[in-house]
Amino acid sequence: MDLTKRFNKQVDKIAVSLIRQFDERVSSIPNILKLTLGEPDFNTPEHVKNAGSQAITDNFSHYTGMSGLPDVRQAASQFLEKKYHVSYDWQSEVLVTVGATEAISASLLGILEPGDKVLLPAPIYPGYEPVITLADAEIIYMDTSDNGFVLSPELLEATLEEHGEKVKAVILNYPSNPTGVTYSREEVQALADVLKKYPVFVISDEIYSELTYDEDHVSIAEYLREQTILINGLSKSHAMTGWRVGFIFAPKELTKEIIKVHQYLVTAAATVSQKAAVQALVEGINDAQVMKKEYQERRDFVYEKMTSFGFEVAKPSGAFYIFAKIPANCIQDSMEFCVDLAEKEALAVIPGIAFGDAGEGYIRISYAASLANLEEAMTRMERYITEK
Ligand SMILES: Cc1ncc(COP(=O)(O)O)c(C=O)c1O
Repeated sequence: MDLTKRFNKQVDKIAVSLIRQFDERVSSIPNILKLTLGEPDFNTPEHVKNAGSQAITDNFSHYTGMSGLPDVRQAASQFLEKKYHVSYDWQSEVLVTVGATEAISASLLGILEPGDKVLLPAPIYPGYEPVITLADAEIIYMDTSDNGFVLSPELLEATLEEHGEKVKAVILNYPSNPTGVTYSREEVQALADVLKKYPVFVISDEIYSELTYDEDHVSIAEYLREQTILINGLSKSHAMTGWRVGFIFAPKELTKEIIKVHQYLVTAAATVSQKAAVQALVEGINDAQVMKKEYQERRDFVYEKMTSFGFEVAKPSGAFYIFAKIPANCIQDSMEFCVDLAEKEALAVIPGIAFGDAGEGYIRISYAASLANLEEAMTRMERYITEK
């Protein structure tokens, strides 16, 4: 009896992300230096950890309501208002999720039906496509690689026109993983002006909003509240990846629907994590600043080194990634390049193909690593490139 044949056919079409696959593949190489995973190398701030410990002592070991503890939702709504000038009613328009990951799944599964189309700027973080596929919807890419990885309003409008009524949602992610590129106020406004003409949901994943280096982050919800499902969380801003806290902010009619999917996926986010989240959002409202200063130094260092080695890089203005074009004299296939680099120099970076076809020919370096490790990584990269 082969029960695997009886699986949901859509599951056959998805796979463990290439980022994880590649990371596992190179992990056994002796002395490997990994700049692979998108996670802060900082520890969660002490005061936030203490709030988590206190919550355990105080027996916060029961379920919370589906949408999360009132004090977290209030704190999240105030955080958003203070930082990005968008306001959501904490009682009916805020959901606490298990990381941004569950926020993405609950939103997409809440809105998609078989045959719907979802537009994605490419290259793109690989956390959306599998959920779209599970819902039997179709992915349409908008390749931004010849426009400095910025989605232009013209390309967005042309794609919306081409695919017509079947388009159910557009996903935005800025600052972007993998490119680090973000959008200025004018760019956000121009995209919103196009989107408001179409009856589509806009899922805006702004998980890196606290990590912008040049200008303050502008949420598209400021211009397009009624259509936007805004996703954020504490993984990157407060170095809390393992606590699994994310948020959905959306108009109450949409939240009311998404909450049903959220309930049956997870019931609610972990209670101890939610208590720590209140501390992070209120007392730690500016915790990202210290990390941001260090990330910026690292960005400048890696950017300068990589360009001096002959890589073309669109200078990132957010997140903690450098997305670099492989120089012409090197292996052009990004997977082969990264495997060769890992085998010869014990340096692991992610092949651009992990972010879709539009990422082929590039590599992604995560600079969420100590300056000492980045210096060593750049020494290895230079040796590899000059020996080509
Ligand atoms: C763009 C983007 N969205 C979502 C996530 C997932 O975040 P979380 O840890 O909150 O689930 C990541 C993590 O790397 C990401 O880069």
